[in-house]
Amino acid sequence: MTEWYQNAIFYEIHPRAFCDSNGDGAGDLPGLIEKLDYLKELGVDCVWLLPIYPSPRRDDGYDIADYFSIHPEYGTLEDFRRLVTEAHRRGLRIIADLVLNHVSDQHPWFQAARADRHSPYREYFVWSDTAERYAEARVIFLDTERSNWSWDEQAGQYYWHRFYASQPDLNFDNPKVQQAMLEVMDFWLKLGIDGFRADAVPYLFEREGTNCENLPETHAYLKKIRRWMDEHYPGRILLAEANQWPQETRAYFGDGDEFHMAFHFPVMPRLFKALCEGRRTALEWILARTPEIPEACQWCTFLRNHDELTLEMVTEEERQWMWAEYAPQPRMRLNLGIRRRLAPLLNGDTRKILLANALLFSLPGAPILYYGDEIGMGDDLTLPDRNGVRTPMQWQAGPTAGFSAARPEQLYAQPIDTPDFPLARCNVAAQRADPQSLFNRLRALIAVRKRLTDLHGHEPVRWLTDSDERLAAFWRGQLLAVHNLADAQLSLRLPPGDWQDAISGVQVRDVLTIPPFGFFWLLRL
Ligand code: GLC
Ligand code: CA
Repeated sequence: MTEWYQNAIFYEIHPRAFCDSNGDGAGDLPGLIEKLDYLKELGVDCVWLLPIYPSPRRDDGYDIADYFSIHPEYGTLEDFRRLVTEAHRRGLRIIADLVLNHVSDQHPWFQAARADRHSPYREYFVWSDTAERYAEARVIFLDTERSNWSWDEQAGQYYWHRFYASQPDLNFDNPKVQQAMLEVMDFWLKLGIDGFRADAVPYLFEREGTNCENLPETHAYLKKIRRWMDEHYPGRILLAEANQWPQETRAYFGDGDEFHMAFHFPVMPRLFKALCEGRRTALEWILARTPEIPEACQWCTFLRNHDELTLEMVTEEERQWMWAEYAPQPRMRLNLGIRRRLAPLLNGDTRKILLANALLFSLPGAPILYYGDEIGMGDDLTLPDRNGVRTPMQWQAGPTAGFSAARPEQLYAQPIDTPDFPLARCNVAAQRADPQSLFNRLRALIAVRKRLTDLHGHEPVRWLTDSDERLAAFWRGQLLAVHNLADAQLSLRLPPGDWQDAISGVQVRDVLTIPPFGFFWLLRL
């Protein structure tokens, strides 16, 4: 297990939200460069940068109007080059979002396509005279879209879109589209990035009589771009966003010839389920259904990201249960998910936040953190869509949270300062100064995780099946990880020998006592 990405700590950043260098109220690339040392301090190895491209931002940048440039609010290509250089200088890697499936309706390709039936760009998109085709494909943005087809007045036809109507899908049956996307990749890889988080990959192709997800044609194209990358940019990675069940996601690894990594979507809601139920059953269940993956691949595991906490990969009954427990107010819900941040989901309970991260770090996969969750930032439910979890990073106390030199009312969104998530506590400076803060304890946990090679790679989870079900207790290699999911002190009879907790250094034998929501990563002395 030697590939850099297999044990890396990933960190997801919204460029708009991280740091504003020029006082216009929105984050930018030079601001991000100023904060690279912070990422090093936390223990991050690789940054995933949300879309940075020119865009009308009807979907916060996932609606790209130009693949070869930087949104002016974020800076210039020169800034981007500097970002890559400065990151690499610190041993940090950067992956960027690659949005293959669709463009913005403002993209010149779509503008040309809708204006003229005979334009070569017409075939870049998927058109129909009726809204009846591909009827088995589900609507993803359920709360806003009624159909995957929208009528375009100018074109005189319907066009296909899996997301917002402002995001027409590209037609991957057109070899020119396939080629154009390789050129996009080439452009950014040439600038030195370390790979891509590939957006919405299950939906590239459409075929009648199918649900238009995970089609063989889609896999064939993805294998093609992987072959091309291996040839021209070996060592760079592709990370799949395929919100699917483990078997379907497994296919995106191919025989090690498709994606290097894929997010593990179904394990995420079950981490929250296990925490709420106070027993490990849901985790055991999903890991038992997670197939092995090729040697050079890795899962990417997460608790939260910039989207709603998706409940697509659970049963209808589980979804209702999760909504009732974690989204009691209707405004907390969005599509088939929950639009809240990690700390509010866990009632701001530092013990639970650390426990959730401890599970994330000790179960198989390379973990990714979402910016702001390391300081227990709150969210803003008054903002529409997913914007409530995309508010400015809080660097220090004060009206702009150290995010910007602009006047507070000029910020694209306000820092979170509520009784439960006060800015005075939820900021980097305050937590740096407090050895017991979430930030410092998480940082320490990351450092331990990096040292413990038993937690790396594909070492399978072996549950202590006869232990109390309120414990998530399992072996990974020589390491015995014990997590108490319950709000009660529990004990575990240890196998013979002397043990030491890799986190606290505490030594123990015979019986381990675990405080409510506590955890230990034990190694034999
Ligand atoms: C992915 C992104 C999400 C975006 C969608 C459409 O799911 O994570 O933010 O809205 O794709 O591009
Ligand atoms: Ca700015």
